[in-house]
Amino acid sequence: MTRHNVIEPGKPLFETIKGSWNKHFNNENPISLELTCGRGEYTIGLARLFPDRNYIGIDVKGDRIWKGAGIALEEGLDNVAFLRIHLLELARFFEANEVDEIWITFPDPRPKDRDEKRRVTHTRYFDIYKSILRKNGWIRLKTDDTGLFEYTLEALKGRKDIIDLAYTSDLYHSDLRPECHEIRTKYEEKFSAEGHDIKYLKFRFA
Ligand SMILES: C[S@@+](CC[C@H](N)C(=O)[O-])C[C@H]1O[C@@H](n2cnc3c(N)ncnc32)[C@H](O)[C@@H]1O
Repeated sequence: MTRHNVIEPGKPLFETIKGSWNKHFNNENPISLELTCGRGEYTIGLARLFPDRNYIGIDVKGDRIWKGAGIALEEGLDNVAFLRIHLLELARFFEANEVDEIWITFPDPRPKDRDEKRRVTHTRYFDIYKSILRKNGWIRLKTDDTGLFEYTLEALKGRKDIIDLAYTSDLYHSDLRPECHEIRTKYEEKFSAEGHDIKYLKFRFA
């Protein structure tokens, strides 16, 4: 099956898609991103629930997004696309205000001190996310990893431009549970089975 819903290096759209995502989807509906999407369980799950929104799963690994892209095609989910890039490149692919919402699902924790700058919740990544997100757009993070969760909360509290921060270190016993729509990713299944509580936070930029 040709994955025309995967935008990746070597395809013409890869060079021209910035600022044209709504044209690509052929509608004016809001766009959500799932960063570090792997197979894109949130991209697919939310696209099924909310046909009036568009969803783009983003990951650097082609084989993972390939699987999600195949499911979206089989189900006829026209509101789904996948983009294969490193997150540091995001601003090359989205205009300011082009994105309505960002999910970050189970990113690699990168616990070593020397890898701090590679964590996708390092404040340099937040600057990139802010540059493409519309005003008042939500950023949402799900993780099993206590170290990354606490690190991210500290990073957010160290910034002056964060509003409406809400979080739980035990999503499935929290009032915030409904907004995660009972979607579980591959890594979530794995870590839950190992007994880890799922952590969740959301915020907006002022
Ligand atoms: C632990 S997996 C989680 C996958 C999926 N979200 C899940 O929950 O099953 C982390 C994913 O992040 C991707 N990744 C890590 N760093 C990245 C980066 N800087 N840019 C894009 N993708 C990245 C990896 O390729 C991997 O697929």
